Amino acid sequence: MNFFLKIFKLLPPELAHTISLNSLNILYNLGLVRLFSKQILTNDDFNFLGMNFKNRLGTAAGLDKNGDFINSLGELGFGFLEVGTVTPIAQKGNSKPRVFRAYEDQAIINRLGFNNKGIDYLVVNLRKRKYKGIVGVNIGANKSSKGTERINDYLICLEKVHKYADYISINISSPNTPNLRDLHNKDHLNQLIISLDNKVSEINTKIPIFLKISPDESDEVLDNIIELIEYSSISGIIATNTTIDKSYITNEKLRKIEGGLSGKPLKEISTSKISYLKTKNKDLNLIGVGGVMNKEDYQSKIDSGASLVQIYTGFIINGPGVVHKILQD
Ligand SMILES: Cc1cc2nc3c(=O)[nH]c(=O)nc-3n(C[C@H](O)[C@H](O)[C@H](O)COP(=O)(O)O)c2cc1C
Repeated sequence: MNFFLKIFKLLPPELAHTISLNSLNILYNLGLVRLFSKQILTNDDFNFLGMNFKNRLGTAAGLDKNGDFINSLGELGFGFLEVGTVTPIAQKGNSKPRVFRAYEDQAIINRLGFNNKGIDYLVVNLRKRKYKGIVGVNIGANKSSKGTERINDYLICLEKVHKYADYISINISSPNTPNLRDLHNKDHLNQLIISLDNKVSEINTKIPIFLKISPDESDEVLDNIIELIEYSSISGIIATNTTIDKSYITNEKLRKIEGGLSGKPLKEISTSKISYLKTKNKDLNLIGVGGVMNKEDYQSKIDSGASLVQIYTGFIINGPGVVHKILQD
């Protein structure tokens, strides 16, 4: 598996990502992924919000935006996968280059802008998946949608995908779709939640719905979120997405790059959001994500109150072997 890692480091980041995941699919089709990935030895089966997980570590949204790699990623030992972000209509995202490595800081900056093949394409992949684990779907709004059209985009995706997903994640926190983060504000979020509540009743879905939040929000905003979701169709929070604060980056040139920062520098800030939310409401269901590079980081998310943990940058930088390293006893 180390060869994935070497390819990643030599090529432009986005190309490396595509080649590596496609190689993983080839290995999967040849029945070889199991040979390369070490068996996960932990026995951590548990039930969370009616879903059965074989362990608490999953992929974060963005790694497999279109569900093209569900079966092969599933063989690496993850307890669950989150696919997406997907939008109603396919879109290309921002112009390239739009992914940047800051390896010195074990970090990535991205401004992809929800490049994806659209909800209908993802549904086809979800329907034909062989992977038996939990698959969550992260949904978002198209860049071209304005005002209330944005809210409608979430409703369209929810309606189209709910029968084929184990849970839904409502992404209001990507920094790369202009003004999307405004949905954290009380009035906008209230409007979004009321619309989601109505759609959930209309389509009569029982699957958990999470709100994926930004790490760049104040305590006051987090307090409002806790209050607004309490009696709603939202079952919990995924904390967090990438940060727009680049002051954590050592390299001055990289600090000026526009986009969201992920990886090691994000760990403390995103874990502090989990702790804050849990302190405010001990019954809140939380999925922790941001800066998990090793077992210790994973454990700190659990200790802060997360029931599940997701990884993206740590997987890219350390390779698939990190799954085993985190989950071994
Ligand atoms: C290249 C890249 C693309 C991402 N795309 C998405 C996305 O489409 N939707 C989303 O909710 N988060 C996306 N994220 C954010 C991750 O899901 C995660 O919240 C964030 O990277 C923090 O976790 P990490 O430090 O383990 O990477 C992306 C992150 C990266 C690095």
